[in-house]
Amino acid sequence: MSIQKRLVGSYLVVIIVTVLILEVFLTVFVRAYFYHNIERTLMNQAGISASFFQQYFAGEDLEKISGRLLSGFAHNITAQVQIIDAEGKLLQDSNGLQAGEFMSDYPDVQEARRGTAGTWRGREPSTNEPVLAVAYPLQAGNITVGVVRFVTSLTETMEIIRHILMIFMAIGLMVLGIVALLSVFLSRTITGSIKELKSAAEQMAEGDFSARANKRYQDELGKLADTLNTMAAKIQRNEQLKNEFTSAISHELRTPLTSIKGWVVTLKADPGEGEFLLRDGLDIIETEADRLTRLVDELLDFSKLDNGQIRLECAPLNLSVLLQHVGKQLAPRAARQGVSLDVQIDNRFPAIHADSNRLKQVLINLLDNSLKFTGPGGSITVIARQTEREVVISIQDTGSGIGEQDLAHVFQRFYKGDGHAAGSGLGLSISRQIIDLHQGKLLIHSQLGEGTQVEIYLPK
Ligand SMILES: Nc1ncnc2c1ncn2[C@@H]1O[C@H](COP(=O)(O)OP(=O)(O)OP(=O)(O)O)[C@@H](O)[C@H]1O
Ligand SMILES: [Mg+2]
Repeated sequence: MSIQKRLVGSYLVVIIVTVLILEVFLTVFVRAYFYHNIERTLMNQAGISASFFQQYFAGEDLEKISGRLLSGFAHNITAQVQIIDAEGKLLQDSNGLQAGEFMSDYPDVQEARRGTAGTWRGREPSTNEPVLAVAYPLQAGNITVGVVRFVTSLTETMEIIRHILMIFMAIGLMVLGIVALLSVFLSRTITGSIKELKSAAEQMAEGDFSARANKRYQDELGKLADTLNTMAAKIQRNEQLKNEFTSAISHELRTPLTSIKGWVVTLKADPGEGEFLLRDGLDIIETEADRLTRLVDELLDFSKLDNGQIRLECAPLNLSVLLQHVGKQLAPRAARQGVSLDVQIDNRFPAIHADSNRLKQVLINLLDNSLKFTGPGGSITVIARQTEREVVISIQDTGSGIGEQDLAHVFQRFYKGDGHAAGSGLGLSISRQIIDLHQGKLLIHSQLGEGTQVEIYLPK
């Protein structure tokens, strides 16, 4: 069943129950109100009549004065008046009913003969008319000598009650109708948003991530639309990154492969060309193979980091030894490029807790960047210092620097500048993830044309 039907259904159930309960209460109340009013009027009248009898006629024979009494009691009242003797025999009737009939079957009369006022509502057996009767004892001293009885027809009253109840029913139906219409309208405001969300989600499920869900209100559904849109945007971005990455990698792989292939072809075609050529060729093939290996390693690292598969193997680490070692490893390359590489760290630098292989990887990545982007005559300085809680390793170069626009993106995977030195754009992203795993921070400051400073903050 659709949500709209469910909503409308539940609105209707609630309102039908409410209206029914109200109608039942109103019906009971209206009837009680009318009957009670009539009964009270009759009872008053009967009470006045009885006390009148008690005051002025108590000593006389009821049967004899009953005619006079009746005309007195029936004066000014539309109800039927009856005077009945102590045995329950009808003496007088204002409607001209035959005297002598026994009335003791009526519950009200029975009650009155026992000395208390009685009422009865029912159908008059002879006419089948609905009536309300009130009987009141006529007393002389403490003895009940007869009964005065007022009877009124309820036909008209019942008609009025029926009318009022019809009006209640009509109002109830009208309320139901209005609520039904309103609930259809109101539920549309909800289901409308849901339908839109659904169709947007379906489009996305079919691979169209440019689809966007329309946000109508600031409610939960609005939030859902936002979430859906953010998700689609992220997927779109990832899709784009993936494509960029694939083309970047293909390009990256092609260059060394082309060069290897070229040399292999050359050497094969002319094996006797001489030892120098062979050596040059093999050297280049080796370098290119190294480049490929590095690229593949980076890619593997990257995917492992991404899947959270990399676990740090932290141990106490002598930072001074590590920095000196990395410095020595890269010194020949720096010398070749005419760049001065200087490592400044106190020998007594306290041990830190870190994964030495991973930290070395980060340092080599960062120094590789500095070396790539610093021309001959430039300098690279590595300085380690400590603050109260952290160890800071700063790598500063006087290279090309990074423009403000690029700076915001350099930590993104596959993001690389457009200089020819740029690699696959994974180095900084991998480095930052490794430092993050150490609960540290990796910051980069740079000014185009002036140089770059990268700082590694590690907790002590
Ligand atoms: N020291 C630096 N000087 C100037 N530009 C830099 C420096 N370090 C990084 N960059 C810029 O940031 C980009 C991203 O660096 P990153 O190390 O992530 O990738 P890469 O060096 O191009 O490739 P990879 O490290 O994967 O071989 C670089 O392409 C370069 O444009
Ligand atoms: Mg790099």
